Amino acid sequence: MDGAVGADGVEAVRVRFLGRKGLLADEFRRMGELGPDERRARGAALNELKVFCEKRLADARDRLAAGVRSAAGVDVTLPGRRAPAGVAHPVMTTLRDICEVFRLAGFDIASGPEVETDRYNFEALNIPPDHPARDMHDTFYLADSNPKSKIQNPKFLLRTHTSPVQIRVMEKQKPPVRVIAPGRVYRRDDDVSHTPMFHQVEGLWVDAGVTLSDLKGLLEYFAKSIFGEGVRLRFRPSFFPFTEPSLEVDVSCVICGGGMHSRSCRTCKSTGWLEILGAGMVHPNVFRSVRYDSRRVTGLAFGMGVERITMLRYAIDDIRLFYENDIRFLQALSL
Ligand code: FA5
Ligand code: MG
Repeated sequence: MDGAVGADGVEAVRVRFLGRKGLLADEFRRMGELGPDERRARGAALNELKVFCEKRLADARDRLAAGVRSAAGVDVTLPGRRAPAGVAHPVMTTLRDICEVFRLAGFDIASGPEVETDRYNFEALNIPPDHPARDMHDTFYLADSNPKSKIQNPKFLLRTHTSPVQIRVMEKQKPPVRVIAPGRVYRRDDDVSHTPMFHQVEGLWVDAGVTLSDLKGLLEYFAKSIFGEGVRLRFRPSFFPFTEPSLEVDVSCVICGGGMHSRSCRTCKSTGWLEILGAGMVHPNVFRSVRYDSRRVTGLAFGMGVERITMLRYAIDDIRLFYENDIRFLQALSL
């Protein structure tokens, strides 16, 4: 009966089985050939069958009346097909967890454009044209610039880090400032620990009396929240034009056990450490470019690589796996 489509179909089934010349009527007629006992038994069985058929026909009419059989012929009374549940990409899970760690420490979330100007990505961050620090960022420049722009250097590019959001926030807001800025950034990089597109989370905390020990404490709190109490961190002196002093932070490499085994490791290049972030105290020239008074406030800033942090959390030895769209990789991680 489920094969019957529409009211006409139901009626055709009724005529065929229950009609005056239908199959059931034939059976009733043939009862005349039977002996009395057999006839009683057969009569009872046929009556039961008739009641059953009438009930199924009535049900079919009810379903039609309720419109559950759509015009397109899709039987919505059939059992559904279950779609496999998706999961968040591991990089997004890490990004969300990082944001939550800093939210608990009182940080707001800020954002900025991925297509930036030279001024925000470099100049306001104390990186003038021809500064050698530009070599550290292999930049994708856009062919177009905006000749009508009032900005001094209107050259467009894909931002190479999230640090321009520092400038955008401070231009709009007076201290105190306490923000993180998660987002995509782009560089002409491509190997087992570098992709041309990756994610950073910028952090900026400006107020009277913020110190380097605040920075260290904050980053230790962050690392323990993300990697667990047992994590080993290494603070290395470094250089960024927009911070002074500057440092970089490494986490012990989980791929090779942090250099405890002698085998060679391509992920940390056998150093035992993987660099996850750059940081430092905001340079007075940066404060000058946003008209903050560096005699009254100090600031800490950091920028972390979300893919690197995700590699360490899940022991992934090649960063490019994140962006190959191989569903087996994502399924293995979500087990
Ligand atoms: C910066 O981008 C600075 N803006 C960080 C900073 C912010 C310093 C605020 C001081 C104050 P760096 O180029 O080292 O720094 O990149 C930061 C992190 O991004 C690195 O530690 C690394 O974890 C990650 N990273 C860099 N390049 C890539 C890449 N191509 N692929 C994946 N991750 C990368
Ligand atoms: Mg670096």
